[in-house]
Amino acid sequence: MSPNSPSYKKPIRKAIFPVAGLGTRFLPATKAMPKEMLPINDRPLIQHVFEEAREAGIEEFFFVTGRHKEMLEEHFDFQPELEATLQSRGKNDMLAKVRDSEIPAGKLFLTRQPKPLGLGHAIWCAAKLIGNEPFAVLLPDDLVLAEQGCLTQMVNLYNEQGGNVIAVRDVPKEDTKKYGILDIESDDGSCVKIKGLVEKPEPDIAPSTLSIIGRYILQPDVFKHLSNFETGAGGEIQLTDAMAKLIGTQPFHGLRFNGNHFDCGGRTGFIEANIAFSLCDKEISDSVQKIIQNYAN
Ligand code: G1P
Repeated sequence: MSPNSPSYKKPIRKAIFPVAGLGTRFLPATKAMPKEMLPINDRPLIQHVFEEAREAGIEEFFFVTGRHKEMLEEHFDFQPELEATLQSRGKNDMLAKVRDSEIPAGKLFLTRQPKPLGLGHAIWCAAKLIGNEPFAVLLPDDLVLAEQGCLTQMVNLYNEQGGNVIAVRDVPKEDTKKYGILDIESDDGSCVKIKGLVEKPEPDIAPSTLSIIGRYILQPDVFKHLSNFETGAGGEIQLTDAMAKLIGTQPFHGLRFNGNHFDCGGRTGFIEANIAFSLCDKEISDSVQKIIQNYAN
């Protein structure tokens, strides 16, 4: 199939959310509570990425979960007692917020990753549910605060270029070993044509400092490569390695998106995200501003 084949431009209707991770960096907070339920301002991490996906036109939501993650499906379910209580108290704003966090019937799908064998393995666990169509992946550890959601920006690029699109940002050289890193063919400042991908290279061998953040639009052909179960960096089955095998056979681009990225997989990024998101919330931004000023002095 030619790299410009129209079949590489099918609409993106499905999104995978890998949520099986243990969240050890937040212990003891995550002893009993999934890390994806930690709140940024008034909603949990998982809801932020769900909303970003919904804004981008995603219709079906696929969670790759694990043990002790039942709270995530509860969160998106219809909660009749809560809704009735809010209604009887006339708390209509709250009621609207609660309703807005429901996933409609028939649109949430769950599968399990029994063992933590890597991000690539987590995505492979959803292969049968996704079938033969392109899909998005959103990692709830990565939040983007932007006027237009990061995934919406990516879908716009996908509608032009087709194939595969990943969100990228520059990182300090010493941090390349924390991320998937791009080998760049050409770069117009926003759209980056990719000629290779390396998972967590040491700074001295990293092909660039442009890193993947947790947003992907991928063609289903990636499942074929994932099903080899080849291990890579850290002894894990890496999504980056499977994606690298698609390059040259179909379009593959990186998008330097507009917006601020927060790595909420660690405590400082999580706190920074809480500050940034609260400052954008009209209800509390003035008070939060004052608190920050107090502590700055
Ligand atoms: C994963 C990916 C990596 C990517 C990162 C973004 O790594 O393997 O390529 O840069 O997410 O957050 P992890 O954070 O799971 O180690």
